[in-house]
Amino acid sequence: MTLIGFGPNMPSSPFVWSSRKLASVIYTELKESGDLNSDLAPKTFESGIAIPTYTGERNEDFATSPKKPDPRRDLRMAIPIGALPHKWQKIGDLILFPKGSFSDRNDIDWQAVATALKVERIGLQATIAEDSSRRSKAILLYGDEGEVKHYENGVCYVFDPFQVMFSSGNITERIRMGKVQAKDEIIVDAYAGIGYYTLPFLTMAGAAQVHACEMTPASIEGLIRGLSANSVEAKCTIHQGDNQTTMPKLRDIADRVILGLLPSSEKTWPLASDCLKPEGGVIHVHMNIHNHELETWPEQTKEYFADYSKRNTEIMHLEIVKSYSPGISHVVLDLKLGPLVK
Ligand SMILES: C[S@@+](CC[C@H](N)C(=O)[O-])C[C@H]1O[C@@H](n2cnc3c(N)ncnc32)[C@H](O)[C@@H]1O
Repeated sequence: MTLIGFGPNMPSSPFVWSSRKLASVIYTELKESGDLNSDLAPKTFESGIAIPTYTGERNEDFATSPKKPDPRRDLRMAIPIGALPHKWQKIGDLILFPKGSFSDRNDIDWQAVATALKVERIGLQATIAEDSSRRSKAILLYGDEGEVKHYENGVCYVFDPFQVMFSSGNITERIRMGKVQAKDEIIVDAYAGIGYYTLPFLTMAGAAQVHACEMTPASIEGLIRGLSANSVEAKCTIHQGDNQTTMPKLRDIADRVILGLLPSSEKTWPLASDCLKPEGGVIHVHMNIHNHELETWPEQTKEYFADYSKRNTEIMHLEIVKSYSPGISHVVLDLKLGPLVK
């Protein structure tokens, strides 16, 4: 066992004694009055609690409090003056600052920033490509080019962050897909990217096989590296190219289809329905919708799939993944399509 701050050089400090019952009230009062020494940890003392302060008559030895991580404070140490961004993205050994951060500065010591934030590389987000590849246009400010290994909930994603965008905001959906009961299922991932959902399905949800459709070479490279990093390459078949061409070859084989494209995956709805086995399955439909459509869009989408597939179609769940922009939400509709009606 390691006791933080205990040892021969434990600091001595004045303190206020409190009964256990009142300790949290007195702690808060001392904090508000500015007399609390928060560098030191309160301790049990004379059947009550001794709370370290800056003033007082008696002194005691106290352990130091473990410092809470505070990356903003660490960044301020490296960039002592000027505005700092309010948030940034950490992917593997890389920090990506938001687009436009530090635009008026040419005096920043990026090595010091990397050291302060405990990473090897620093980059700046730029506009994501508007085409369907959603390619990253991030710029490297410090460190080496090349892939990152990003670990998230038991899955290792591998990709070049200067080629491929990684949406931290979709983490809840990646976790949700990893928790789906998909044991022994055959899955078609229509917009596989670097394996955002393919990898959780194979590593966490026990899928037997994923057919991963993807057309962007940099994403396919990341997908191959991710499959290998998670030792699931034998369970994935990559179908390179436009899914309008590749999905028709996957008719009648799937228990589940994932349609993870924004703002809309509508172009592949009929193909996804055709991929399902005759006995039926589940389709996860991603979409950006206006918040006032949250009631109507799921019903309309269900009706579309029921009409097209001639199958009994049920809404299982509507997942609100994130707010995409003001008034617009990224949602995922889980639909269950029944057996083909003869
Ligand atoms: C934005 S990414 C996937 C994002 C991921 N689903 C998520 O929610 O985080 C969409 C991927 O679909 C691929 N894609 C877009 N249109 C495609 C098409 N017609 N055929 C195959 N892949 C396509 C892009 O190359 C990209 O890698």
